[in-house]
Amino acid sequence: MTRREVLVGEAVTERVGPADRPVDPGAGAFDEPDEAGLRPRELAEFIGQSELKEHLAIVLEAARGRGESADHILFAGPPGLGKTSLAAIVAHEMGAGFRVTSGPSLVRAGDLAAIVCDLSDGDVLFIDEIHRLARPVEEVLYPAMEDFKLDIVIGKGPAAKSIRLDLPRFTLVGATTRTGMVTGPLRDRFGFVARLDYYDPPELEKIVRRSAAILGVEVDAAGAEEIARRSRGTPRIANRLLRRVRDFAEVRGNGMVDREAARAGLELFGVDALGLDKVDRAILVALTTGFGGRPIGLSTLAVAVGEEPETVEDAYEPFLLRQGLLVRTPRGRVATAGAWAHLGERVPPGITAAGYGGVEMPSLFG
Ligand SMILES: Nc1ncnc2c1ncn2[C@@H]1O[C@H](COP(=O)(O)OP(=O)(O)OP(=O)(O)O)[C@@H](O)[C@H]1O
Ligand SMILES: [Mg+2]
Repeated sequence: MTRREVLVGEAVTERVGPADRPVDPGAGAFDEPDEAGLRPRELAEFIGQSELKEHLAIVLEAARGRGESADHILFAGPPGLGKTSLAAIVAHEMGAGFRVTSGPSLVRAGDLAAIVCDLSDGDVLFIDEIHRLARPVEEVLYPAMEDFKLDIVIGKGPAAKSIRLDLPRFTLVGATTRTGMVTGPLRDRFGFVARLDYYDPPELEKIVRRSAAILGVEVDAAGAEEIARRSRGTPRIANRLLRRVRDFAEVRGNGMVDREAARAGLELFGVDALGLDKVDRAILVALTTGFGGRPIGLSTLAVAVGEEPETVEDAYEPFLLRQGLLVRTPRGRVATAGAWAHLGERVPPGITAAGYGGVEMPSLFG
């Protein structure tokens, strides 16, 4: 997490918007300077996810046309695909203020109450990692989202009184890497739920070229293609690899990011031809030679590669699943024939492209 958070009263938020500076939500006050500059600010600048963009554009334009705040929006998908960027874009497109907070930083109901009471009409409140909201906080959020009301209980015991406060009509934008962990009642209160998917290499190539232009890096078509192909379908990784290859090209080459510089640079930094990094490969090694190809549970796998189970499940597994290198079975995670082959190992008998015993269990892939 590179986010810089500011304490406002008891709650951790950051105001980016009319209150203390001109509306420029995409400026990314919560990023490293380098990443902030690369964030797309407008929908038109946001590359890929064309269906999502089309739907979002309609939702926002309709709200603008009616002079209303936009409906609440939930962005779901693996890390680094652009959820935070889109949240800032929503505020920018609506010409609205942008407030940032996150599920884990809202500990008590009062933390959220302090934030929503301080909103202005039309503001966008962004709650990152919304699947990690505490239950009492979530319960305050329901009437706030639905009726723009805040229920506050004053006092204790028989003398306790409940009062209802009116809230400004704000737009809640939530982001989650785990749709499955967002409770049904919360999910149902979003008017628009959008899933971000991994990007195609041509889209990533455009992202690399755009970032290179912003960073002032010279990159040719082959160099951009090589970086795009190894970016695990993820813009954040594409940007990171571009920076590393730029470093490599400046120190070991003539500063130009071409195919050769990209290949040599990425190899040096441990990114292989499929874009797998050290942790990806450690996962595959554990699932193949590490435990002799037996199915392994998530927690065992996480210990074997020295990561948190949540990190393995959110950040690494989806891409390996999608690449057909790993499958989930009722008995645990299994490497496919493709994984053995990618590691240069002989594929053991009984291991197929679908994993263990060739039995594919599609119901487990959701
Ligand atoms: N569609 C896109 N076009 C151009 N750049 C993008 C796009 N999506 C993401 N990026 C770049 O990737 C970086 C990561 O995006 P962002 O922070 O929005 O991802 P995220 O989904 O919020 O990730 P996390 O789940 O880790 O919070 C951004 O800094 C931005 O530069
Ligand atoms: Mg984010």
